[in-house]
Parts: sequence; C-alpha cells; structure tokens
Amino acid sequence: MLAVSQDVGGPPDVLKIIEMDRPVPTVGEVLVRVHAAGVNPTDWKTRARGQFATGAVPPFVLGFDVSGVVEEVGPGVTLFSPGDEVFGMPRFPHPAGAYAEFVTAPARHLVRKPANIDHTAAAALPLAALTAWQALVDTADIQRGQRVLVHAAAGGVGHLAVQIAKARGARVVGTASAAKHDLLRRLGADELIDYRTADFGALRDIDAVLDTIGGDYTPRSLRTLRKGGILVSLLPMDPGFPAGLAEELDVRATRILVEPDHAGMQAVADLVARGQLRALIDTTLPLGEAAQAHKRGETNSATGKIVLSVVV
Ligand SMILES: NC(=O)c1ccc[n+]([C@@H]2O[C@H](COP(=O)([O-])OP(=O)(O)OC[C@H]3O[C@@H](n4cnc5c(N)ncnc54)[C@H](OP(=O)(O)O)[C@@H]3O)[C@@H](O)[C@H]2O)c1
Repeated sequence: MLAVSQDVGGPPDVLKIIEMDRPVPTVGEVLVRVHAAGVNPTDWKTRARGQFATGAVPPFVLGFDVSGVVEEVGPGVTLFSPGDEVFGMPRFPHPAGAYAEFVTAPARHLVRKPANIDHTAAAALPLAALTAWQALVDTADIQRGQRVLVHAAAGGVGHLAVQIAKARGARVVGTASAAKHDLLRRLGADELIDYRTADFGALRDIDAVLDTIGGDYTPRSLRTLRKGGILVSLLPMDPGFPAGLAEELDVRATRILVEPDHAGMQAVADLVARGQLRALIDTTLPLGEAAQAHKRGETNSATGKIVLSVVV
C-alpha cells in the first residue's frame, strides 16, 4: 500500500510517499480501507519534533483521523463486517498511521459513518469533535442557558465546539478574526470578539471556557469566569498553567488530552445524523500532498479542517 512516512523530524518536506506492507488486523481489530484522513496540529507538531508524545520515533506514519470502509475483521470482532463505512480516531496518542491506504484499528475506536456525510467530511471530525465533546460535555458538563467562551472558534476544534455547545443549549461567545464572524454566526455563535482589535478579557460571568490557545490566554480567560466556572485547556504541556490563580479566583481550571472513546464518537455521529454538527473543510489535498497540507496547517489560520483524500 501507499503511505506517507518520514525518516527524521523536520519541516513538511520530510514527508514522503512510500510503499509499505498493508497492516494485518489482530484480535479485536479491523482493517480499514482509508478513503480520507484528517490532518490535525498534533500531526505537524509530531512531524517537526520527529517523535510522538508516547516516545515513538521515525520511521513512522502520521495521522489519527480516518474515514473509510471495513476491509477485513480480526478475531473476536462482532461490531463491524466487511463493507461497513466507519470513521474514528484510533489509538491516539499512539501512532495510528492514518496517512495511508489502509489502517488497522481497535473496533471500538470506530463507529459507523452517518449516511448524510461523505468520507471527506467524516475524516474531518474525529479528533477535533471528540476533543470538543470531551472538553465541553464530559469535563465542563455545560448546561442549557450557560455562556461558553470558545477560543479560536473558527479553528478545527473551535468550529465544532461552537456547534456542540449550541446543540446542548448553551450560549456561545467566540474569539476569531473579523472576516470569520459571519460564518461563525451561521454555525450558531451568539457573540463574537475579534481578538485582534478587542479584549475578550473584559467578558464576565462566563460559565465555561474552551482554551485552545494557552499562554496568556489562560490567565486572562480565568478572569472572565463566574465563581465556580471552569476553564478546560487543550494544552496539557503548557508550562505556565496558572493553577494558583484559578484557586485564588475560586474557579476551576483543568487540562485534557483527547482519548479514543466509542460513546463520544457515537454522540458525534448522532449529532451529525441529526444535522446539528458538520465539519467545515478548509482544504482537501491528495495523500501525496501531505507536506502541502501541513504547510497550510502551520499558517495557524485554517477555517475548519484540512483533509487528505486517499480514495478519489
Ligand atoms: N489536548 C488535546 O487533546 C487537543 C486536541 C485537539 C487540539 N489540541 C490543540 O488545540 C489547539 C487548536 O487546535 P485546532 O485543531 O483547533 O487548531 P487550528 O484549526 O489549526 O487553529 C487555527 C485557528 O486558530 C485561530 N487562531 C489563531 N490564533 C488565534 C488567537 N490568538 N485567538 C483566537 N483564534 C486564533 C485561527 O483563526 P484566525 O485566522 O481568526 O486567527 C484559525 O481559525 C492546537 O494547539 C492543538 O494542538 C489539543
């Protein structure tokens, strides 16, 4: 099969298309023919570092988000059969090898793809939507009528978080550059702040913050929370995390790393099937242009998601 591999850490051009053996599903796993693979910041950070967070070093194949068709099932798998259309975020944070024509995945790291979206739209969802779900629903437990501040609301995680928060009945305040406000209003955002010209730190009585940025955004966001409110940071390794300030302000602050999650993936699929969640696609490129996809991602200005199409 074809896959995108790298032998060293470095700039996007270290990514190269190679031929390698098709993986073989072991007990509890399925083999998926990949139709599309989503691209995430963790991919370009891992590529540049030349190391996964788990310590895995090159040569390796990047990519966690996959949408495709079950080709084969391993021993013990009852959830899927060959021919089923599935999507998910297998194995994270261990290497999953989604930038390839085939991947194996533990069966319960996948769910059925909703019929109302194609593989490109499905591959855009898993990691970013699971992150938003686990942050806002599982961790912050946002409630109907609450005010939720979503930073980088037009980004991969942010635009899905906006829709998930709306589907839970919350009011959404988003930060994004002005050119993206109309789009975010159409996704349901209630209040928008152009972070380049206005200070979101003037907000008060926010119930929950989704902090996708870190750095000085974290202490500034803590001050927007009501007493007992919660900030969920997506930057678990941010060295300056202000736990002491949260205590002083009588608010909660926590950091999460997304996990493979069958129930969460099913919740995401159900929202999609009901028409309450859709991924915006910033760019679609063929698998062989993964380096170009990373260059686009590293501009830190994507609106929605970048996806590699594998079967066209
Ligand atoms: N902990 C976890 O499990 C986890 C999971 C997923 C993602 N993450 C992390 O979360 C971060 C966001 O991920 P992502 O996929 O959403 O990234 P992304 O799609 O690449 O983010 C791009 C977006 O960020 C916006 N942006 C950039 N600087 C901003 C600022 N100062 N204020 C507000 N918006 C800003 C840009 O909008 P403008 O053009 O308007 O600036 C753009 O729309 C990354 O660091 C990623 O590694 C962590």
